[in-house]
Amino acid sequence: MRKEAQYFDDIVQARRSIRIYDDKATFDETAVDRSLERALLSPNSSNLQLWEFYRVKSKAKKNELAKYCLGQNAAKTANELIVFVTRKDKWKERARYVLAEAKKEFPATLSKKHKLIIEYYDKLIPTLYFSDPVDIAGGFKKIASVVSGTFQPIPREVTATDMRIVVHKSVALAAQTFMLSMKAEGYDTCPMEGFDSVRVKKFLNLPRGAEICMIVSVGTAKPEGVYGKRVRIPKEQVIFEI
Ligand SMILES: Cc1cc2nc3c(=O)[nH]c(=O)nc-3n(C[C@H](O)[C@H](O)[C@H](O)COP(=O)(O)O)c2cc1C
Repeated sequence: MRKEAQYFDDIVQARRSIRIYDDKATFDETAVDRSLERALLSPNSSNLQLWEFYRVKSKAKKNELAKYCLGQNAAKTANELIVFVTRKDKWKERARYVLAEAKKEFPATLSKKHKLIIEYYDKLIPTLYFSDPVDIAGGFKKIASVVSGTFQPIPREVTATDMRIVVHKSVALAAQTFMLSMKAEGYDTCPMEGFDSVRVKKFLNLPRGAEICMIVSVGTAKPEGVYGKRVRIPKEQVIFEI
């Protein structure tokens, strides 16, 4: 095994979800800066980067947000809380930005590959992401995918709800990058979906189109902050070779 793989294994093995942090331990806030910047490098669907990360650091704001995390110890005792937010509503401006950046590298005469990239962001992305308030468009897209799917392999996840899941997947990957990075920096984390999303959205002043994917608390674990041994389903039951 390469030494990099050994380091990575050490980090993965050492990461645990922490429910009680040590408020006496020193905390280097710049570890969060670095980890959020690494989270930005996470793989994400169509590179649209439909995410926002909100750092909650002040004691008063943290206490308020901890209440909306249903008073969980993992939130109450943390040094900081980071809210991972989905921004599906920003698809248009993010697509425009990503395509404009890509085009800067394009040669004067476009090859087939370059034309495909333009078509992807100008046509396919709007087709997938456009939705009306009751998602009538999603119903039509679903019918179209079922019909053309009888003749060829085709994406089946086309409704507004499907696209919400697409965005949540990418934001969850960013949260994972962040958590592993914090462990590499010598700190601990706990991902949380136990929160009142309506209150958290109001607290962050977020618009309707934004959703809370996860809230991650950070700090230094107290030994009693690890709730029990690590339990995993035996690998034979979940890893398959086809
Ligand atoms: C999406 C997600 C939501 C979670 N929500 C909570 C939560 O609200 N509160 C909590 O204490 N732990 C929460 N967890 C942590 C899990 O309980 C924990 O990851 C699992 O028990 C495995 O333990 P480990 O992380 O120590 O390996 C969540 C984890 C994930 C991935």
